[in-house]
Amino acid sequence: MIVDELGRLVYNTPKLYPKQLEFLKGSDKVTYNGYGGARGGGKSFCLRPKAIQLALKYPGINILFVRRTLRELEENHLPYFERELGGVCRYDSKKYLFKFPNGSRLRFGYVNTENDMETYQGQSIDAIFIDEATHFTEKMFMKFTECLRLSDTIKPALEKGLVFKPRMYLTANPGGVGHYWFKRLFIDKEYRGDEKAEDYRFVQSLVFDNEFILKNDPKYVERLQALPEKERQAMLYGDWDSFEGQFFEEFDEELHTFDPENVCIDGETGVFEIRNNWRIYRSRDYGLDMLAALWCARDENGTFWVYREYGKSNMPVSASGEKLNNLTSPEEVIYSDIAPPDMWNRNQQTGRSAADILYRECGQRLLKANNDREMGWLMVKELMRINPATGRPYLQISRNCTQLIKCLRIIQHDEKNPNDCAKIPHDITHFPDALRYLCSSYTYAPSGIVMPGEVRKRTFADYALDLGDYEDKEDVESNGYIEMGDLDDDWFSWSINWKRNWSFNSRKGRSKFTGKLIKGFKDWPKRFFRD
Ligand SMILES: Nc1ncnc2c1ncn2[C@@H]1O[C@H](COP(=O)(O)OP(=O)(O)O)[C@@H](O)[C@H]1O
Ligand SMILES: [Mg+2]
Repeated sequence: MIVDELGRLVYNTPKLYPKQLEFLKGSDKVTYNGYGGARGGGKSFCLRPKAIQLALKYPGINILFVRRTLRELEENHLPYFERELGGVCRYDSKKYLFKFPNGSRLRFGYVNTENDMETYQGQSIDAIFIDEATHFTEKMFMKFTECLRLSDTIKPALEKGLVFKPRMYLTANPGGVGHYWFKRLFIDKEYRGDEKAEDYRFVQSLVFDNEFILKNDPKYVERLQALPEKERQAMLYGDWDSFEGQFFEEFDEELHTFDPENVCIDGETGVFEIRNNWRIYRSRDYGLDMLAALWCARDENGTFWVYREYGKSNMPVSASGEKLNNLTSPEEVIYSDIAPPDMWNRNQQTGRSAADILYRECGQRLLKANNDREMGWLMVKELMRINPATGRPYLQISRNCTQLIKCLRIIQHDEKNPNDCAKIPHDITHFPDALRYLCSSYTYAPSGIVMPGEVRKRTFADYALDLGDYEDKEDVESNGYIEMGDLDDDWFSWSINWKRNWSFNSRKGRSKFTGKLIKGFKDWPKRFFRD
């Protein structure tokens, strides 16, 4: 940018490609402008000239340009602005702020944690550029939307007849902590509360839109083409359903979901119906923020049919229990009612736990799930494998369970631990957690075990007490146990005292229980899964 003889600012806008122009041109009338998809399409590039153009056209405008980290700002954007604006604009390097001679301000920002967003509290920003928007959490994005309003400094320009609508420019690749909200608003177009369809606009970006790359770096496209299928879809074609960092990479709707109106079970096709000899499990994740519940029936082939889901936020404990009871018909006899261990925590004031309330007020005897996350996910993934008996995965989810399906598709790896999934965004963790509690509370028995009749008449607590590792029946209850069916659906019980890391085992064909310490506890699900 230069100042000409008449003192005017002259900025030579780089030549933009048609897709970039399409994105920028339609933006003045819409609040949220999304530009997303494949990597290398020229998304970040076109934000820079737009920011400068706005600063020149609307004297006094207040512009914010953000990336998630300072390093990304320094590498991708600041050098360009320093080159273009240096000498003409005053630069405050502490505030990352360029002040234009016409009073416009262009400020750069980055956000380490959600708490950093407090610095934006109460600000009025006319235009916000969010580069790599899917690196920001929904909370961060919401905070930015709160700042998006006409600033005091732009008002004189508007009073002179210029028209400006506060707006955002967002670019994004699939994947990242913000994948979910970005996809919801710009791809799925599912609006909540005050969100209105006309405020959102999306332009799909492809690497093939970028002449610069095609000409100068054809290897880049080749490299994208060589990525594993899922990443390739995301990075090359901007597919929002598969992306880098997806936790359940194996999850495939073709394989893992079924149409409850038209499903083939044992060669018979028709409406999904639970047969008499199947066992029904109900599993929930419960917190004040969200109740997420799943109903699952397990058939004689070992297939787990997840046939119903229910999700609701802000439900008091007893209301949540009543609701689940109402949704369960009398014919659906719940074999295990599985819940996370924190439901046994006692409330400090009342001394009662959620499990206690649900037992007394709703008649629900909950089974305490194990909360070893890594092991639990491993078990979910085990059930996603193909069952040789049916040729389909053990896990089958009804297409009516839309929330569970959606969450499984988009939940990400934890950044630090590849064996765990990300705990943010928090609202998509509840259904996967309910599924995890279900899977970690149920596994196959070692094959071929037949329990003699006389043993079967005893209660589980009796077996556990025989071992001498539990103090009394209450101890058995509070430490939890798992009940499993074996291949012939002859049932037996299996105790796992999760806290003490031991379990007991039954010897094939004998009625005697042996208190057998299982070392390498974390491996046990692997060992006992039927292949
Ligand atoms: N209109 C353009 N003219 C010249 N080079 C461009 C243009 N648009 C993008 N590029 C270059 O293409 C490369 C990828 O662009 P970038 O904006 O980083 O893509 P994205 O943000 O979509 O991943 C960069 O090197 C960028 O400088
Ligand atoms: Mg970019």
